Amino acid sequence: ASHGDVSVDPLRMVAKEMKFLTGNIRQLLGSGHPSLDTVAKYYTQAEGKHVRPLLVLLMSRATALAPKSPRYNGQQSAADIDHAISPMSILADVNPTSLSTNPITDSPTSYPATDSDILPSQRRLAEITEMIHTASLLHDDVIDHSLSRRGNPSANLEFGNKMAVLAGDFLLSRASVALARLRDAEVTELLATVIANLVEGEFMQLKNTARDEKNPVWTEDTITYYLQKTYLKSASLISKSCRAAALLGSSDSVTVDAAYSYGKNLGLAFQLVDDMLDYTISGEELGKPAGADLELGLATAPLLFAWKNNKELGSLVGRKFAKEGDVTKAREMVLQSDGLEQTRALAEEYVSRAIASIDAFPDCEAKDGLVEIAIKTLKRRK
Ligand code: FPP
Ligand code: MG
Ligand code: MG
Repeated sequence: ASHGDVSVDPLRMVAKEMKFLTGNIRQLLGSGHPSLDTVAKYYTQAEGKHVRPLLVLLMSRATALAPKSPRYNGQQSAADIDHAISPMSILADVNPTSLSTNPITDSPTSYPATDSDILPSQRRLAEITEMIHTASLLHDDVIDHSLSRRGNPSANLEFGNKMAVLAGDFLLSRASVALARLRDAEVTELLATVIANLVEGEFMQLKNTARDEKNPVWTEDTITYYLQKTYLKSASLISKSCRAAALLGSSDSVTVDAAYSYGKNLGLAFQLVDDMLDYTISGEELGKPAGADLELGLATAPLLFAWKNNKELGSLVGRKFAKEGDVTKAREMVLQSDGLEQTRALAEEYVSRAIASIDAFPDCEAKDGLVEIAIKTLKRRK
């Protein structure tokens, strides 16, 4: 099928697998403590978009036909892969800890046999990826003081900050147990690094610019810092889980790198669009607060591009839009500038790179699905 063909429906291609996703995640999240059980499963109730597991499943299918290579000859450390984009991400020594046994995760979810070329380990990876994402949302909504998520009250509003944070930790733990059970050291290292990257990205965001100054000056580094933060916060999970999907399928190293590159470029595009929508779409349509970034003191791509030509924005960035009237003023300056256009253009560039990354994959429905998701990223409204 060609680009934009209406017959290409990525969700339908892996519908059988997606049907079990939420149920399996809820099973992995079971706790004997009734209120922990409730809070941990809270964000699995309203249907999310499930973009990440969808990508993992499609990547698994798309790489099934690509060249294979035996595993464990020349494993790459997660730190090596990221070197170009994330020199500051240092892999801490991993201390093996004894895992307490868990009655629920000890009985592995059995996957009903399908005629599918997607492996059970790849389906489990899709669940793990969504659990890590959901954990980050639980923590994010606490950090951002968000009152809504997916059109419902946020977990922090419904249960309070303490329980929301603990539930996020619980999700990470159960995701880690499931990851360990895949018995794949390289994949474990990748996904463990994602968790560190999420925290690093969030820390970079707290600082807004590389150096914490009262009156920061715009330089090309401003955009570099933003993109690095964006990689860590958003693209790391997508890129490393795409890479992990290819690894679990025993793909050769060229295919593994292509899967990673697709995920990295798509993840960057995805967050650029997210940062644009924060300026252009109503909170009602988003299902979460709109215009939130400036309120939180955050300068995202549209503002950074506007700042390049409106140097006076520097002092507002420096004080995190905290002075009376700053948010309104910054918002107007962004809307009057070409900041949104430039953000869109950059997102388009990353989408093209994502599509180019998987160009060498053998033609198949799942590859078309990955291309379609990349194109749809630019059109999405939530
Ligand atoms: C959403 O961003 C948040 C993220 C993509 C990641 C947040 C990461 C952390 C809170 C680090 C610690 C968490 C874990 C689990 C390691 P957003 O606030 O821009 O998007 P939103 O509009 O959906 O809230
Ligand atoms: Mg948020
Ligand atoms: Mg946030």
